[in-house]
Amino acid sequence: MNADTQRSAGTVYIETYGCQMNVSDSELMYGRLAECGYVPVGGPEGADVILVNTCAIRDHAEQRVIGRLGELKRYMSRDTVLGVTGCMAQRLGPALLDRAKHVQLVVGPDGYRALPSLIEGARRGERVAKVDFDLEEHYEDFHARRFDGVRAWIPVQRGCDYKCTYCIVPMTRGAERSRTLSDVERESAEVTAQGITEITLLGQTVNSYHDGEHDFADLLRRLGRTPGLRRLRFTSPHPNDFTDRVIAAMAETPVVCEHVHLPMQSGSSRTLKRMLRRYTRESYLECVARLRGAIPNVALTTDIIVGFPGETDDEFEETLSAVRDVQFDDAFTFRFSLRDGTPAARLPESMTVSDEVATARLDRLIAVVREGSRARNLSLLGSRHEVLVEKAARRGGLLQARTRHHRTVLVPGDASMIGRYLTVELTGTTGSTFTGALVHNSRALPLAG
Ligand code: SAH
Ligand code: SF4
Ligand code: F3S
Repeated sequence: MNADTQRSAGTVYIETYGCQMNVSDSELMYGRLAECGYVPVGGPEGADVILVNTCAIRDHAEQRVIGRLGELKRYMSRDTVLGVTGCMAQRLGPALLDRAKHVQLVVGPDGYRALPSLIEGARRGERVAKVDFDLEEHYEDFHARRFDGVRAWIPVQRGCDYKCTYCIVPMTRGAERSRTLSDVERESAEVTAQGITEITLLGQTVNSYHDGEHDFADLLRRLGRTPGLRRLRFTSPHPNDFTDRVIAAMAETPVVCEHVHLPMQSGSSRTLKRMLRRYTRESYLECVARLRGAIPNVALTTDIIVGFPGETDDEFEETLSAVRDVQFDDAFTFRFSLRDGTPAARLPESMTVSDEVATARLDRLIAVVREGSRARNLSLLGSRHEVLVEKAARRGGLLQARTRHHRTVLVPGDASMIGRYLTVELTGTTGSTFTGALVHNSRALPLAG
């Protein structure tokens, strides 16, 4: 029986927190549940099944979910099933069932295959936590239900083997494993056949992809031949996995976009060592130089943590100087959040950086990042770029579009232009985003990088 002819099993709403991997997992869950007769709905009101797909990366992320679980009570009737999935579910397991009595299901990232039967059980009154890892699981036979008709996220790897000392992900998603290249190729062809022209490959250290036979360079080159694909991105790579092979594949595959999100975490070799990032300031900068040498004008963005245990003023200054040296397009900046069970949680308390110091450092870092991106963005005014229109912008009457370098441009237009490629001239910047004017073909000039 297919989904069209099958009797409805009820409605399902999934609320997603955390990274793109979770967004992608929610699409897989929607797809699986739709095949079992569940109808996806856009909000919790009246939904028969509510799933909260959670993140555990920082304490703040978990507190938000705890608050939200309380709020969701008001949408629930006696028969509503409320489940918690994702990384916080994996981390807390059965303790979450004790803590929130209205939660019936707790399912970790490797347990989604069992969701339909677990939901059935919950409807009969069972309360279950399923948090075992399955190192074979890639959900290859699930058909992701995508709501974005312009861009697609395709997971190519699950888990992480790096074990950075601050990070909970190895504990919530288990060991690293890669999908087969042929399977990724099949899914890419499926999404482009539906008219999607931009794909982002997902993995915690996506460029360490290896399916036993093919590495990430092979994957990029092979996907570069997907009919209908115009833009290929990936997130997040690890600096140590940028082999010359991978960089050459990026440079030589025309659909691979000129943007790399390259998490730095710190610009101090001493801090990086305590973080167990497995590179130094110098080798990170060398990786940046290799990328820039092979891909002229490549845009770089990053993630940075301040206040990691033992971070001195000098070490923090090294982070600021690295940010100035690299000239990132943008950076996601975080205050260190201590996660139970991670190696950093076992460091002596005397190494703790106070909230006050960490907050002051974060403010200074943000100011330096903004100053750099503003200067760069001003220098780009007047240049021309190909953009892909993604969606209606929050600001009235404008569309949100993006350059290959992942810069956001707001352009005038209507909804019929979503999904189209346009040439725009950058006319203004707020510091982080641009406004652009459409350029008509009669004035075609070479596009800037
Ligand atoms: N796998 C990716 C990162 C995934 S988590 C990578 O290695 O690049 C996304 C970001 O959250 C990290 O890059 C890091 O900057 C931040 N982060 C992770 N754990 C954190 C913690 N305990 N406190 C603060 N920020 C953290
Ligand atoms: Fe976490 Fe490090 Fe793995 Fe990224 S590479 S997910 S930061 S352990
Ligand atoms: Fe959060 Fe899990 Fe992603 S902890 S950042 S949802 S891998």
